[in-house]
Amino acid sequence: MADDLCFFIKDMLIVRPPVKNSLVLRISLLAFVMVCGVFMCSIGLKQISNFTKAGFIDIKVVDKPCEVPNVEKWERPYVHFPNPTTFNRAECACNPVRYFVISSTQRSGSGWFETLLNSHMNVSSNGEIFSVKPRRTNMSTIVDTLDKIYNLDWLTSASKNECTAAVGLKWMLNQGLMQNHEAIVEYFKAKGVSMIFLFRRNLLRRRISILANAYDQSAKPLNGKHKSHVHSHDEAKILASYKPTINTTLLIPELKQADNMVKQALEYFNSTRHIILYYEDIIKNHTVLEDVQRFLRIPQMELKSRQVKIHKGPLREQVENWDDIKKVLNGTLYESFLHEDYKVS
Ligand SMILES: *[C@@H]1O[C@H](CO)[C@@H](O)[C@H](O)[C@H]1NC(C)=O
Ligand SMILES: *[C@@H]1O[C@H](CO)[C@@H](O)[C@H](O)[C@H]1NC(C)=O
Ligand SMILES: *[C@@H]1O[C@H](CO)[C@@H](O)[C@H](O)[C@H]1NC(C)=O
Ligand SMILES: *[C@@H]1O[C@H](CO)[C@@H](O)[C@H](O)[C@H]1NC(C)=O
Ligand SMILES: *[C@@H]1O[C@H](CO)[C@@H](O)[C@H](O)[C@H]1NC(C)=O
Ligand SMILES: *[C@@H]1O[C@H](CO)[C@@H](O)[C@H](O)[C@H]1NC(C)=O
Repeated sequence: MADDLCFFIKDMLIVRPPVKNSLVLRISLLAFVMVCGVFMCSIGLKQISNFTKAGFIDIKVVDKPCEVPNVEKWERPYVHFPNPTTFNRAECACNPVRYFVISSTQRSGSGWFETLLNSHMNVSSNGEIFSVKPRRTNMSTIVDTLDKIYNLDWLTSASKNECTAAVGLKWMLNQGLMQNHEAIVEYFKAKGVSMIFLFRRNLLRRRISILANAYDQSAKPLNGKHKSHVHSHDEAKILASYKPTINTTLLIPELKQADNMVKQALEYFNSTRHIILYYEDIIKNHTVLEDVQRFLRIPQMELKSRQVKIHKGPLREQVENWDDIKKVLNGTLYESFLHEDYKVS
């Protein structure tokens, strides 16, 4: 056949003018390259199919039930072996994973708390996933989102190279959690999800933080940037230098509303396995973080955050109209907020 081809080319060489000849030569060369390409491709495909076969065998191994760690019977539903679709857990496949939600309200230290949790090498907390509205449109978008997170297919900066032993997200009460509480409780029960509630004891301090943060959002004193959290003492000082004036007419109703929302949440999710934490307690005593790690059944580690607290002075120095506030709260259910204070070095 090679000879035929040669004759054919020779024929062309003789009959056709040189320019056309070179064209034909080029066409035949192209044809040859194409034939070779198809051949190489078919070898490649065979190898790929072998490769996927090997992958399939791997997955078979993973599918073999992992050994459930020695836990009490009630705890079994909380032990998971996710099988992500976006990557292979490989040597971590049989490392048990716990599912959690950090449930909180704005300006309660949950951002700081989440950085602490994420400093644990086996924890992935994926941030405020439901601050994006379309994800909380209805229960089916919520379930889709949660399924992806708990299957370890939600890839964010919180995803770890290490074996994940606890995966979760931060979910504010006003981000569809309260509205859909019944269906979400069912989901948590079916999926074996635990809740970490994080609240502030002193709701007056939270109120001040909300107002200061709202001010910062418009004034942006840090070089024109809005920062809800800071990493340096200088930045914290600048942000804390703004003193809001609290509307004393609205203060009591606002505190009551915040207080009730927390109570309502604890009632709604009472049947879900949970732990209740207070921001002030974590600041005062880091042993609370040991409780959290015990709750999540993860090995104890020292947890660290680079975030710096913004408001650390006494409360009276953080508002413009302290005397008015004192008058309004005196003798009420919330009077203790005036006195409960803490110092942070
Ligand atoms: C939920 O919202 C999504 C997105 O808007 C929509 O496509 C879907 O039909 C809705 N599902 C239900 C059950 O309402
Ligand atoms: C934590 O991650 C390390 C490194 O990947 C791994 O060896 C260890 O088993 C993990 N711990 C748990 C409890 O999964
Ligand atoms: C406080 O809020 C009330 C109700 O929104 C409003 O009528 C009042 O003017 C506010 N007071 C101040 C000092 O801004
Ligand atoms: C939660 O339920 C238990 C009993 O199931 C009850 O004793 C407790 O008071 C409830 N707590 C709240 C906050 O509703
Ligand atoms: C922190 O809390 C633990 C247990 O709750 C307690 O034993 C310890 O003394 C506390 N430490 C400080 C510095 O308050
Ligand atoms: C609270 O009110 C009582 C009397 O009603 C008064 O004696 C006390 O000084 C007030 N306290 C503050 C902190 O204003």
